[in-house]
Parts: sequence; C-alpha cells; structure tokens
Amino acid sequence: ITNSKTIIVSNRLPVKITEENGEYILSPSEGGLATGLGSVYKRNNNIWIGWPGIEIPEHRQAEVTEKLAGLNLIPVFLSNEEISLYYEGFSNEVLWPVFHYLVTYANFEQAYWDSYKTVNEKFKAVTLNHLNSDDIIWIHDYQLLLLPCLIRSEQQEVTIGFFQHIPFPSFEIFRLIPWREQLIAGMLGADLLGFHTFDDARHFLSAASRLSSSNLSDNILIYKNRQVVVEAFPMGIDAEKFDKLTRTEKVARYTSSFKASLKNVKTILTIDRLDYSKGILQRLQAFELLLQLHPEYIGKLALYMIVVPSRDTVPRYKELKDQIDQLVGNINARFRTINWVPVHYFYRSFSVEFLSAIYSTADICLVTPMRDGMNLVSKEYVASRSNGDGVLILSEMAGASKELNEALIVNPNDIGNIMEAIVQAINMSPEEQHKRIKSMRAIVNKFNIHLWVKNFMDKLNEVKSMQE
Ligand code: UDP
Ligand code: G6P
Repeated sequence: ITNSKTIIVSNRLPVKITEENGEYILSPSEGGLATGLGSVYKRNNNIWIGWPGIEIPEHRQAEVTEKLAGLNLIPVFLSNEEISLYYEGFSNEVLWPVFHYLVTYANFEQAYWDSYKTVNEKFKAVTLNHLNSDDIIWIHDYQLLLLPCLIRSEQQEVTIGFFQHIPFPSFEIFRLIPWREQLIAGMLGADLLGFHTFDDARHFLSAASRLSSSNLSDNILIYKNRQVVVEAFPMGIDAEKFDKLTRTEKVARYTSSFKASLKNVKTILTIDRLDYSKGILQRLQAFELLLQLHPEYIGKLALYMIVVPSRDTVPRYKELKDQIDQLVGNINARFRTINWVPVHYFYRSFSVEFLSAIYSTADICLVTPMRDGMNLVSKEYVASRSNGDGVLILSEMAGASKELNEALIVNPNDIGNIMEAIVQAINMSPEEQHKRIKSMRAIVNKFNIHLWVKNFMDKLNEVKSMQE
C-alpha cells in the first residue's frame, strides 16, 4: 500500500504554458480549482493529469512532458479543434451557462458534444496509463463529467471520487440539455460525488434519480449494483498561507506603496475572472448609482477592480469585456476630478504577493456573483485581514454565503441593495468590523483546504470499504 497514490484529474493543470519567441514558459493557472488544490496536491507521489492550456505541436510534446514531470504533472494534449469544440464549446458554451442558470447563453451544438466525448476518452487513456492498483482517482469539474463512467467500465474495482466546483442546477434547468442522461450516467461512475453546497447535492440527487435507473435513499444512489454517495464538501482555502503572506517583506513593500498612493481615499476591492456569472456589470452600476446619489463620496472612495482574462475567445466573454470597458470608461469620464479617479480597472492577472497586499489593504471587498459554486476570493479576503478589520459584501448566490454569515449579504440583481451595503460598509464602526471579521476568520481558518481534502478522502475511503 505504501506506493499507492492519488491521481488528480482536471481539465486545467495548476500551471499553464504560454509561448514567447518559441520558448515555453510555465506560470500559475487562475481560478479556484487550480489555486485551491495547487497548494496541496504535491504530497507523497501524487500526480495531476490535465491540459497545459495551449496546443502543443507533436514534435514538442516530449519536451513539455519532461518539463511538467518534474512537478508531478502529466499533460493531456489537445488540438486547436478540440480546444474550440470541447473546451470553449461544450464546456463553456453549454455546461457553464446552463449550470449557472443562464440557459439563453447556451449553444447546444452536436459537434460540441461529439468532441466532449472524444476528449473525455482522451483523458481516460492518459489516466489508465498512469494507474496502478490501489491508486485513488480524484476527478474534478464539469469538463470531465463522462470520465468517471469511462474509467469504471475499464476498471470495475478502482476507487473514483468526483468533485464539481460549479453549481449543479435544479432539474428543470438541467433537463434542457439534450445529452442529460449521458451526463448523469457519466458522473455515476464515481463512488463519491462531492459538491460545494447541500443545495447542489440535492439538485444532483433529484436529476440523477429522474434520469437514470437508480434507487435513492437519503444521499445514496444504488446504480448498476454499486453504491454512489453524494455529499456537500464546501471547499476551503490555505488560510494560514494568506495570513502569513501579509507579514512577508515582499508583500509589505507592495502594501506600503499602495497605501502611499491612496492618501485619504477609502478603497473597495473586487477580483474576478472575466465571467458573466460574476455580476461585474451590476457591481459597476451600483457604484455609479452611489456616486450619483451620494456625491459626498466623490473624491473620497475608489473602486479597485481586477478582472483576470478568461475564455476571451468565447463570444459571450468577449462581449462582456467590451461592456465592462465601456461602462468603466463612462463612469470615469463622468465623475473623475483632476486628482481623483473613481474606478481603477486592471485587465490582467497578479502574483499572489500583490493580491495579498491589496486584500490586506482594501477597506471593503465587494463580491457580487449572479451564481458562484463557492467563490474563494471572498475567503481569501477574510484570511488576509490579519489586523482584524475590513468589510466583506457578499452575494447570497455564492456558495460561500452559506458559511460567511457575518458578511453583508446582498442580492446581486438588486443594484440599490448593493449600493446601500456599500454605504453601510463605509460607515461601519471599527468594533463591528472586528466582530464580524473575527467570526468569519474562525470559519475560514477551521474549514481550510487541508480539512476539505481530508474530509473528502476519508469519506471516499469509507464509501469504498462499505462496498466490500
Ligand atoms: N486569482 C489568481 N490570479 C489573479 C487574481 C485571482 O490566481 O490575478 C485567483 C484568486 O486568488 C482565487 C481564484 O483566482 O483563488 C478565483 O477563484 P474563485 O473561486 O473566486 O472563482 P473562479 O475563478 O474559480 O470562478
Ligand atoms: C472555474 C472552474 C475551473 C476552471 C477555472 C478557470 O474555477 O470551476 O474548472 O479551471 O474556473 O477557468 P478556465 O476555463 O481558464 O480553466
């Protein structure tokens, strides 16, 4: 048993490759899956299988494989056609919008589905190549819903866990997908299926019992004579890392130069990938409304908005980028003064040290997704408040709102509600800030990423031993 390992499989590896003058450069991937698991996977001889983020021509695949092997990473190579049909197409023009309740954004193309099946087969082949008996397979997220069943049909006894990082929609939404039965059957190849919240787990159980011939009792489905357990595991972060980071020299340097640039201006921070599920436009509208109805804040308050480039080859994302550019431009042109700008907008990614500096400096963190599986940014803000102050405004549609009760909870569709929460945050007494942050820090510290991995793995082992 000593050489048994965990094989993590996800569409995206925790590092991505970009090309500069013919040279391949590795950098950290963005998004909650990669940042969350990235700090814990390297234990023992575990490996992580996934796509390195660009097409690698055949004659350079050996070079990339070798480069990644040093990090315990195994690449799955995708052609540009697969990237377009499986990743941009089925994953991000069908599953992503539907699972985030934006069904009118979905594009149900047969060619997308065909490619989704082919690429899931590709992931199966690579996984089987690295599989030893006693290994545990842990598959992640909506890009690989067919993989549990594909592996199960080759290896009946193997232990397979699956975790979905995005919401699972109610049955009435899920049933709109033409390939709904196949998707459910694919997932039911796992022994344990994890979701961020109890509601997601419940939605999955209801869809699975209607769309497959399985028997349901509590949170256990009996499917093809096997028990499949479905449970909520709210994902945490490496809270200790974010707390400690604020005291490192590099972060301190960023912090003092950021503070020096602020003078007496209060700061609202927002950080998201470019995504229509994040409510970026609504948030800008709320800020605009605030400047309009409360001119006393002009010159006294600024919004720092980091948008991390993401999926910008998908039409809806490109469109969103243009809308954000325009709205930011309008707000700044309308309200700016000679020595003050209302919105500081960045369209790029930053190092974790830089993020730590602004997380720990910003007076308010504004997180307003329309839908979000969990939202780790809100937890990272809380973990970075080592001084105990700060205010988190959080959408009730984020999984994190189930845990972070002491945030100012808002409905992201209610622009007036968001604006009022900002006013409340600006005027919140230091005592109240400390009380709320303290209670949220206790939760973020306790239910951290290590406990999340442990809880999932313990449950997976328990499920497996029950089957024997
Ligand atoms: N993030 C990053 N680079 C940046 C800005 C943010 O890697 O320049 C990270 C951030 O720290 C967080 C993740 O991206 O861990 C976003 O995760 P979240 O769960 O909030 O949303 P997702 O992108 O997964 O939908
Ligand atoms: C979300 C998804 C992840 C995904 C990440 C970044 O967190 O749950 O599966 O990796 O966004 O998106 P990308 O399409 O760049 O991998």
